[in-house]
Amino acid sequence: MTENEKFLDEVISGLSQEQKTLPCKYLYDARGSLLFEEICELDEYYPTRVEIAIMHRYAEEMSSRVGEEALLIEYGSGSSRKTRLLLDSLRAPSCYVPIDISPEILAESAAAIAKIYPDLEVHPLCADYLSPVEIPTPEKDFRRRVVYFPGSTIGNFEPLEALEFLAQMARQAGSGGGVLIGVDLRKDSQVLERAYDDAQGVTAQFDLNLLVRINRELGADFPLEDFRHAAFWDRDLGRVEMRLVCKTACRVDIAGQAFDFRAGEYIHTESAYKYDVAEFASLATKAGLSPQTVWTDVSGKFSIHYLTVPDGPFLQSGSDR
Ligand code: AVJ
Repeated sequence: MTENEKFLDEVISGLSQEQKTLPCKYLYDARGSLLFEEICELDEYYPTRVEIAIMHRYAEEMSSRVGEEALLIEYGSGSSRKTRLLLDSLRAPSCYVPIDISPEILAESAAAIAKIYPDLEVHPLCADYLSPVEIPTPEKDFRRRVVYFPGSTIGNFEPLEALEFLAQMARQAGSGGGVLIGVDLRKDSQVLERAYDDAQGVTAQFDLNLLVRINRELGADFPLEDFRHAAFWDRDLGRVEMRLVCKTACRVDIAGQAFDFRAGEYIHTESAYKYDVAEFASLATKAGLSPQTVWTDVSGKFSIHYLTVPDGPFLQSGSDR
């Protein structure tokens, strides 16, 4: 199946459900990635800024947790901007393995990192980090593998998927290894909804771009003016939902298949789960990780957890799952 066929397949099956949905990974085409960069600069979108501030403030403590001569693996490394804050204070890191789906950005940032840190072995991997990729064995000795997953991207996973993915990280880090992960925290609904529906409408453009993309790449005919973006905080589920709401009833053709939309009906395009510190620690524990330290900003907006993989095989208790 080509990429395009897979995209069509997932779009058709998402829109065929009772609650229409589209996979959020498709938000990130070239334009979507640029719009996301723009979102990170918005006043309302606090996560990027706050996570960077925590990295600045606690890089030393994080580095002493990670220890000397670590092999650092990063999922969805992108520009590796946050990683530099960590690398600047890590003690003699052995190797850096950035994993990213975009070959251009990966090559560019891996080259930049190699230049800034000449003693670091850099092994970029162009891959989808969701599937367990083989981590290259570096030439240099290393003491432990540490998976770095910033950005609160773990929040885009359904809790059960997040559990599975954390378990994959634990396996990839191996016994004695570690996981350093950014997790956005539960907070006031207005703050959350504004973060995902800004006054300038950048997030709306980002969300609507998904329909633009489906029209262009799959030859669909979504009437863009009939859809608007909305953000909804579901407190019980602990997630912000991005939605594309249909303003007036319409029928959309996608590769010969018709989809009817009622006025007010919406497509669920993304979930961003928010966790309490204890809630996330408990999820990570179920995945076989052992919580060590958590750093947050003073106003408790965002958290960065350091978790370790216990020595020896992890035995699932089974009692609390
Ligand atoms: C890149 C997944 C962390 O969920 O906050 C930002 C994506 N979506 N605004 C998030 C996003 C809308 C973002 N992550």
